Amino acid sequence: MISSKVKVLLTGGAGYIGSHVAKLLTKYDYEVIIIDNLFSSQPQKVYGRFYKSDLREEGKLLEIIKKEKPDIVLHFASFISVPESIEKPFLYYENNVGNTIKLLSAMKKAGVKNFLFSSSAAVYGIPDIIPVPETAELKPINPYGETKAIIEKILRDMAEAGEINYISLRYFNVAGADPEGEIGPNYKQPTHLIIRALKVAKGEIPYLEIYGTDYPTPDGTCIRDYIHVMDLATAHLLALEYLLSKGESIVLNCGYGRGFSVREVISVVKKVTGIDFKVIETKRRAGDPPILIADNTRIKKILKWEPKYDSLETIIKDSWKWELKQK
Ligand SMILES: NC(=O)c1ccc[n+]([C@@H]2O[C@H](COP(=O)([O-])OP(=O)(O)OC[C@H]3O[C@@H](n4cnc5c(N)ncnc54)[C@H](O)[C@@H]3O)[C@@H](O)[C@H]2O)c1
Repeated sequence: MISSKVKVLLTGGAGYIGSHVAKLLTKYDYEVIIIDNLFSSQPQKVYGRFYKSDLREEGKLLEIIKKEKPDIVLHFASFISVPESIEKPFLYYENNVGNTIKLLSAMKKAGVKNFLFSSSAAVYGIPDIIPVPETAELKPINPYGETKAIIEKILRDMAEAGEINYISLRYFNVAGADPEGEIGPNYKQPTHLIIRALKVAKGEIPYLEIYGTDYPTPDGTCIRDYIHVMDLATAHLLALEYLLSKGESIVLNCGYGRGFSVREVISVVKKVTGIDFKVIETKRRAGDPPILIADNTRIKKILKWEPKYDSLETIIKDSWKWELKQK
């Protein structure tokens, strides 16, 4: 492990994934600094030194980065909903692209060069090869995926010119909660399948919708590669250490290399909770690729990443434990 004196700045570090990474970094004695505007999250706990601030406020952003002088920035802050990005594209380009450029600009002015980017499997669109490798063509089919692909292009060009060292982590479908039960998904408006299914099981939402049952998959519903948030947090720790020690820019898929259909997920949620809830089949949503599964050969080889929670049941059990703790 790298020195405990390393200073890590997390944008969006009060959100779901950022807070799990922040907790892990604190455990390993990293100095954690967080910038978050709390627009989309409602954290019960924030790890590290917290600045409640919006990335769009350039002056304040530069002031924080100059003052803190982090060794590395982990950039989680963004809007994350595919359907919303189709309805309100400008909002997504403004926050996910515009504010990332403001962040990179502040880093440049403050002389901070190391960057971990929260990218997404949405950059692949409908891939020609499944499991999809990092070398696949980027052809996003919704504005959300487009915003991530644009930032990746900017990072690649900056790295080639020696302006930045970065790792782009392309997350597949992140789910689960801290196995110690301290934190979990804290979205103000949850849209993800597993969280919504658990809220239906709990009686907070009347029924669960399946968007599309005529996809070219064995049971007609979309297939996704669900990854436990703690395995993803570990991937960040390894990526950060790799970047700080080797300075080599890379792009890495973060997924398990296997997928579950919406129907399969629902059936495991019913099994874990012991509750048979109402499910309604409805038409496809725009912007959903039929199948997304990661080829994770590269991350396993380069970072020696070894998943510990690679079971859909474990993911759902940890999420259910968390959900039951919420009022
Ligand atoms: N959840 C997933 O399955 C998934 C999959 C692929 C990629 N990602 C990416 O991972 C990152 C984190 O996602 P998450 O699921 O933790 O979402 P989240 O909404 O819980 O976290 C994002 C945090 O960023 C904050 N934020 C947004 N815009 C901001 C701004 N302009 N200034 C300051 N703070 C701002 C939000 O308030 C929130 O706390 C995002 O970049 C997302 O695109 C997530």
